[in-house]
Amino acid sequence: MIGSALAPFLAIGGHEVTKLSRAASPANGANAWWNPATSQINLGGVGDLEAVIHLAGEPLGGRWSPTKKQRIRDSRVNGTRSLSEALIRIPRPPKVLVCASATGFYGSRGDELLDEQSASGSGFLAEVCRAWEAATAPAAEEGFGL
Ligand SMILES: NC(=O)c1ccc[n+]([C@@H]2O[C@H](COP(=O)([O-])OP(=O)(O)OC[C@H]3O[C@@H](n4cnc5c(N)ncnc54)[C@H](OP(=O)(O)O)[C@@H]3O)[C@@H](O)[C@H]2O)c1
Repeated sequence: MIGSALAPFLAIGGHEVTKLSRAASPANGANAWWNPATSQINLGGVGDLEAVIHLAGEPLGGRWSPTKKQRIRDSRVNGTRSLSEALIRIPRPPKVLVCASATGFYGSRGDELLDEQSASGSGFLAEVCRAWEAATAPAAEEGFGL
């Protein structure tokens, strides 16, 4: 949802946008592809990247069965770690990695006023968001802006 609005917005601003999608493959002419479920990723053909914006993850909609919850968590945590590790290996890494998170980070806190300084809360989404953000560590340790 966000990427399909952001990509044309960036293109109108003169940026060249490369989409990293599970559907991409060399067979369909893509220069970047990945399979976050198996941590396979190929960024070999992308050239110089100014920034990477990471929005991929299993949709939250639908019934949260144990399997669905596993997909929600693994797609974000493992996918983010694979991407971060791949980015630090390319010859000229981007300066910036923007990784989505969510207000679920704060947990359900009723009427409590929350801002970016507020601590994380409790519950499944808060736990996912903490692990998801922490999975950017390989890029953060290499000095990427996050
Ligand atoms: N939309 C919101 O209001 C909102 C609010 C807070 C946080 N967020 C977070 O921001 C990110 C982007 O949101 P969005 O609404 O744009 O997401 P989305 O449209 O539901 O999903 C973005 C992309 O993730 C990929 N994807 C789907 N299932 C996946 C899986 N199991 N493993 C790996 N990739 C998968 C798909 O790309 P391909 O099929 O091309 O691989 C999909 O187009 C998400 O992580 C979301 O949790 C969104």
